[in-house]
Amino acid sequence: MTTRVLMVCLGNICRSPLAEGILQHKIDSEKVFVDSAGTGGFHIGNKPDSRSIAVAQKHGIDISHQRCRKFNTQDFVDFDVIYVMDKSNYANVITLTKNTAEIAKVKLLLDVVNLPKKQVPDPYYGGEDGFEHVFQLIDTACDVIAEKLNTNS
Ligand code: 4NP
Repeated sequence: MTTRVLMVCLGNICRSPLAEGILQHKIDSEKVFVDSAGTGGFHIGNKPDSRSIAVAQKHGIDISHQRCRKFNTQDFVDFDVIYVMDKSNYANVITLTKNTAEIAKVKLLLDVVNLPKKQVPDPYYGGEDGFEHVFQLIDTACDVIAEKLNTNS
């Protein structure tokens, strides 16, 4: 059976598109489906931020085909696990849950790794450096997630 993983941030143009592309790059697409969404609706239908596209490209991953969409409550039904980038995303998603099963699906991405940092910082208002840092944090977490998914499914 396909495992369905959703990556969530606020805008769905910087962090979660990177998380979608990075995890997709590491897994067998026949066994794992990866998507991303944002809790805010500011950029619906848009491509990822050009800085996210560029940093992904630098690491050999094309995310330019992705389009922004808003997180919705059907996502609790459609996905097995929902990884959020920071505690604010967590609060926004948890507000929409209806039961403990839905709550249990929501996890902080960096909780899968043993890093001092527990949140992927929002790079939107920062420079290029922020995007490389964000890429590295997400990449480290996705290595662990992919290894688990590739062995379990
Ligand atoms: P993201 O970054 O949540 O990583 O996609 C943001 C992108 C846009 C905005 C906020 C965060 N915004 O306010 O438009």
